[in-house]
Amino acid sequence: MTSAAVHLPPGPPPPRHLWDELLYFRDLKRDVLGTIAQRFATYGDVYYGRIRGMGVFSAMDPEFIHAVLVSEARAFRRRTIDLEFLGDGVLTSSGEEWRRKRRRLQPSFRHDSILSYGALIRQESERLLAAQRPGAVLDLHASMRELTLRVVCRALFGQEFPGSAERLGRATRVLQEAVLRPKLLPPWAPTPAHLQHRRMSALVDREVYRIIERAEGAPGSLLAALRASLDQEGASRADAARELRDEVVTLLLAGHETTALALTWACYLVARHPELDPALQAELARVTGGKPVSAEHFAGLELTQRVLSEASRLYPPVYVIPRVCTEDVRIGPYPVRKGDELWLWIYFMHHDARWFARPERFDPDRFLPGGEAARSPRAYLPFGAGLRSCIGRGFATLEATLVLAALLQQHRLELVDHRPVFPRPRITLAPERPLRVRLLAR
Ligand code: HEM
Repeated sequence: MTSAAVHLPPGPPPPRHLWDELLYFRDLKRDVLGTIAQRFATYGDVYYGRIRGMGVFSAMDPEFIHAVLVSEARAFRRRTIDLEFLGDGVLTSSGEEWRRKRRRLQPSFRHDSILSYGALIRQESERLLAAQRPGAVLDLHASMRELTLRVVCRALFGQEFPGSAERLGRATRVLQEAVLRPKLLPPWAPTPAHLQHRRMSALVDREVYRIIERAEGAPGSLLAALRASLDQEGASRADAARELRDEVVTLLLAGHETTALALTWACYLVARHPELDPALQAELARVTGGKPVSAEHFAGLELTQRVLSEASRLYPPVYVIPRVCTEDVRIGPYPVRKGDELWLWIYFMHHDARWFARPERFDPDRFLPGGEAARSPRAYLPFGAGLRSCIGRGFATLEATLVLAALLQQHRLELVDHRPVFPRPRITLAPERPLRVRLLAR
């Protein structure tokens, strides 16, 4: 045994046959969180296993996760095998290419740009609410997905979303499923799953090209700025078309599904906790004085923001962050080798009683100044950490706060089905069944 091997963390024995691996994938498919929780309970906060001959670290330890994302980040890249349909946008590229892409997008995510999206966020919330009669039943995830899609399209691409939110939602669900599929055959093999994956990827492309084609007349938008900078850099027509496609598909998908889920889970929790309603109403009345919610109210909506933070602790839309090691490095006592994979389990860190007392309890007060969340900042990472953390954090926070406040200003939320809802982990953490609430007029 080499001295490096001595220091590897504990973990399950390597699978002896392909059959053992298939059984593991079957367990994962049946119950991802249960299977991984069991392993953390058995082996500790960092464990090591081998899958298809590759070393895999799984971690829920805040210090290990901090080292991978922040202090030793140069030795890792994002794992992109399940994100190939995104092409080479800011999310999937690395090194100098990533830096150039991120720099190009940054102006659209500055504080003043984000505040300027406030008016259209308000219009889109009003549009959603105006379509509802008192007593109407809302499918939270579907409605929030449509709303956030419309918002991101108007804010970043300067136009109404031209396609079908439902079709795009169906396609992204199929693309997300690939994450739990064992990669036994190469992606070009014509299996039914691969063929469906290709069809859905083509469908997403069609939606995206429609946006790009219609964006000529959208001065001032991120899309117009991207076009201009590609022209300036002298990119060929084909290169520019591919870069635009990859960036638009990345921002469209990364920029709406996550925020829709944050809102879905927050609405679900508010409906499950009617005891919170008087305090939320008091805050709304004090901050808005009964006027429609707008960006200038954002800072004052402090409890509404804490509700959203706590919802993303319990149900982080990005519940696990995968990385691949690009050069040998030591993380704490552990040697991580080039080619190893690392799965950083944000979900389990957020549900750990060492950082959050009675972690399954919904308690927005954890996010009061000086509260639990402030005392263990490394244990709360809904937007990731380090240079590759979420570029849309400010945008998503403003959007989710204004939408939730506008909804609660007009309606009380009542759950239609009181059975507990479990999360369904794929690339993001969605509810396992549709979450429906009845809108009761105030
Ligand atoms: C509540 C909503 C959101 C959550 C929870 C979320 C979460 C995250 C997380 C955890 C990461 C880092 C992943 C990693 O390190 O591998 C990330 C990256 C990213 N997010 Fe978000 N996000 C949200 C909203 C948005 C929005 C609104 C946009 C754009 C409009 C966006 C665009 C991106 C992009 C482009 C990256 C990659 C950044 C880079 O690699 O430089 N996200 N997001």
